Amino acid sequence: MAIRALDKPAFEVILRQYVRPSSPIDTFEHLVGRSHQRESIEEAINSPGRHIFIYGDRGAGKTSLAQTVAYEHNPSTTHPVLVACGRTTTFSSIVEDIAHQLTGRGRLSSAERSSSTGIQGYGINGSIATKTSEKALAIGDLNAATGLLAEAAGTERHIVVIDEFENLPSAEDRQLFAELVKQISDRGVPITLVFCGIGQSLDDLLLGHGSSHRYFHEVPLPTPPLNFGGCWQIIDSAAGALGLEVNEDSRLRVAQVSDGFPHYVHLLCEKLFWAAFRAEEEVEILTPEHYMRAVRGALEGVEARLRSAYDKAVKKDMDQYQEVLWAVADHFELERNTTSIYTNSYLRIMEDLGRTPVDQSAFSSRVAALRGSAHGAILHSTRRGWVRFSENLIRGYVRLRAESVGVRLALEHERGPAPKTLTVGARRTGIDPAFPRRHYASWGKGRG
Ligand SMILES: Nc1ncnc2c1ncn2[C@@H]1O[C@H](COP(=O)(O)OP(=O)(O)O)[C@@H](O)[C@H]1O
Ligand SMILES: [Mg+2]
Repeated sequence: MAIRALDKPAFEVILRQYVRPSSPIDTFEHLVGRSHQRESIEEAINSPGRHIFIYGDRGAGKTSLAQTVAYEHNPSTTHPVLVACGRTTTFSSIVEDIAHQLTGRGRLSSAERSSSTGIQGYGINGSIATKTSEKALAIGDLNAATGLLAEAAGTERHIVVIDEFENLPSAEDRQLFAELVKQISDRGVPITLVFCGIGQSLDDLLLGHGSSHRYFHEVPLPTPPLNFGGCWQIIDSAAGALGLEVNEDSRLRVAQVSDGFPHYVHLLCEKLFWAAFRAEEEVEILTPEHYMRAVRGALEGVEARLRSAYDKAVKKDMDQYQEVLWAVADHFELERNTTSIYTNSYLRIMEDLGRTPVDQSAFSSRVAALRGSAHGAILHSTRRGWVRFSENLIRGYVRLRAESVGVRLALEHERGPAPKTLTVGARRTGIDPAFPRRHYASWGKGRG
C-alpha cells in the first residue's frame, strides 16, 4: 500500500468515482465546466414544448451532459430513458424502445437507479434500439408514434435521451424525429427529448429540416471541450480525494497533452494514480517520473479506434509521417497553414530530435498523402494550403505519442486561471523553472 491510509478497495472506490476515461459522467459534482449549459438546459426543460439538442465533437462530453441533466430533472421515482442510435436503428425502433422503457424497465426504485442499464461506456455501446419488435410501428406514422409515447409517459414529465443521433442512417428517419418533436410539443406530451449528436450545427444533424428549429434549445459544446482550468479541476479533485498531490509540471503537462479533451485527462490521471498506488514507497506527491510512466501507460489505454487510425496514418513508418503529424498538432489552432506547420513546427521538431528534415515540397507531399484514403484521411483540408485533423479528438493521441518519446508540443488553447491559485499542492511543489521547454533533445530518442 503506497498511498497513506488507503487499502486497495478504498482506493478503487475513489478512483472509479472520480476518474472515468471510458464512461460518461452522470452527476454535476463530477461534470466540469458546464454550469452555463446546465442552467440553460434547466430553463429549456421548464419551458413547455422545448426539447434539447446537444452537439459537438466526439469526446466533447455530449453524453455526459445529457445523462447528468437527465438524472437531475427526471422524476425521482423513475430513471431517465436512455437510448442510442446505431447503424441498424430506425425511427420506429427507437420510439418503441422509448415506450418500452417508459412503461417497463424505466420504472425503477431509486435503489435500482445506480445499477440501471442505460448508455454506459464511451462510444456506441448503449441501449441500442433493435429493428425487430413485436408491434412494429408503421414507419412514418407520426400520430401512432406520438400516441404511443403519450400513453407510455402518463402524467409525470420524463427526460428521454436519444444519443448518437449521427448514427441514424436514414435522412427520412431524422426528419421524422424533427416532426415528432413538433407533435410532442403541440400535443403537450410530458416528455422532454434530449438529443446528442456529432456535428457542428443542428442542420448538420437534422439534414436541413429547418422548420423544427424553434422547438429546440441548441447546446453546442465548445472545441476544445475544456480549458486548462477545467482539466486541472478533474486532476485536482481526484488527487485531493486520494490524498495526493501532482507536481506542478506534470499537472500542466496533463492539461497540455490532453488538448482539452477530458478522455485523456481521465486516462492520464488513472495511470498516474495507479502508479502511486503500486509504488513500493509511500507516495504523497507525484513526480515527473510517475508522469512519464503514466503517459506511456495511457497510450495503451486510449480507445483502440484512435490507435489504429494513427497506425494506419503513419503506416508504422516512424520517420516518414509521424513527425509530420506531430508538427500539425503542434499549435493551439486546429486549422493551420502548411507553410507555417513546416517552418514553425516541423523544422523545430526535427532539429530537437537531431534528424534531417525533408524539404518543403517533400513535406507538402506527405501532408497531401495523409489526407488520402491510404492513410485513413487522418488530415482534412477545406481550403488550399490549410490543413486540420479530420477528428479533433485524435490530436490528443498524436500529442500523447509525441510526449511519450519526449517531444513536447506547443502550448494550450486558453490559459485559464493561474495554476498557483488553484491548489495548495501547486504552491508547495512550485512550477518547474524549465517549463515550457522549447528544446527537448535531451529527452532523447529511445524513451518510448
Ligand atoms: N465536463 C466534463 N468534465 C469531466 N469529464 C468529462 C466531461 N465531459 C466529458 N467527460 C469525460 O470525457 C469522456 C468523453 O465524454 P462523453 O460524454 O462520452 O463524450 P461524447 O458523448 O461527446 O463523445 C468521458 O470519459 C467522460 O467521463
Ligand atoms: Mg457520446
